[in-house]
Amino acid sequence: MATALETPTSLQDPEEHSRPSVVAVEDLFKAFDGHVVLKGIGLTVRRGETLAVLGRSGTGKSVLLRLIVGLETPDSGSVCINANSIAALSLDGLNAVRMKMGFLFQHAALYDSLTVGENVAFPLEHHRRDLSKSERGERVNQLLAEVGMEGNLDKMPSDISGGMQKRVGLARALALEPEILLLDEPTAGLDPISSGEIDELVLKLQRERQMASIVVTHDLHSAKTIANRLAILDQGSVIVEGTFDDLQQSTIPFVQEFLSHS
Ligand SMILES: Nc1ncnc2c1ncn2[C@@H]1O[C@H](COP(=O)(O)OP(=O)(O)O)[C@@H](O)[C@H]1O
Ligand SMILES: [Mg+2]
Repeated sequence: MATALETPTSLQDPEEHSRPSVVAVEDLFKAFDGHVVLKGIGLTVRRGETLAVLGRSGTGKSVLLRLIVGLETPDSGSVCINANSIAALSLDGLNAVRMKMGFLFQHAALYDSLTVGENVAFPLEHHRRDLSKSERGERVNQLLAEVGMEGNLDKMPSDISGGMQKRVGLARALALEPEILLLDEPTAGLDPISSGEIDELVLKLQRERQMASIVVTHDLHSAKTIANRLAILDQGSVIVEGTFDDLQQSTIPFVQEFLSHS
């Protein structure tokens, strides 16, 4: 099969569609000061799958991720993680769910005043006090090696390139072995070569760890490379969702325009 080589591994898994959703977003509405940003968003992501959420700036992609993490509450609709609505959870319950999520925010990928090693150690210091200091140190080294950043332990974020900062941010996002990975514009502001390297890294991590991943991006090339499915957001709604081939078949003018301008 000629196309199989380019297809992310989990698409080849015949059982994929029988797996339950890890993340299920249903009919999500969110407004700020009377301006409705999300108008009934519905999305699902299964284990081993990467969903790319695309759309122009200001369409609510980052808001969507913040709702999934529980940093914002929806006006209506629900976010379910492993079939449990996060709205029904106590603060402890929500914190337990958040521990299953690794996220890389659009801005402030790293704490500027901490070294690379301290950044990656941060979630372990807070949530894995059961590990000894040396075990945590070993874990930090493993994580940095996993993202190709071994040997950079004592550097400051300002001493490394944007692409390297994103790698370290990814290592930190993986520190607690997340079941769900949420990446907000992981290639924004990077040159094409660094973007390609981040895409390769995301693919590798997903092959090795089989998380349920959502990657928000306005980079169609990146989305096509890393995602099994793509969803395009416009004016608060998902206007199309499917494989890249499905999107190319779409007759919706905005989708055609989006694909031709990206
Ligand atoms: N906390 C907030 N308060 C008020 N408006 C907000 C807030 N967060 C986001 N918005 C607005 O919601 C819209 C979508 O923002 P955002 O999700 O950041 O867009 P995107 O990530 O797609 O570029 C923007 O108009 C933005 O100004
Ligand atoms: Mg954003």
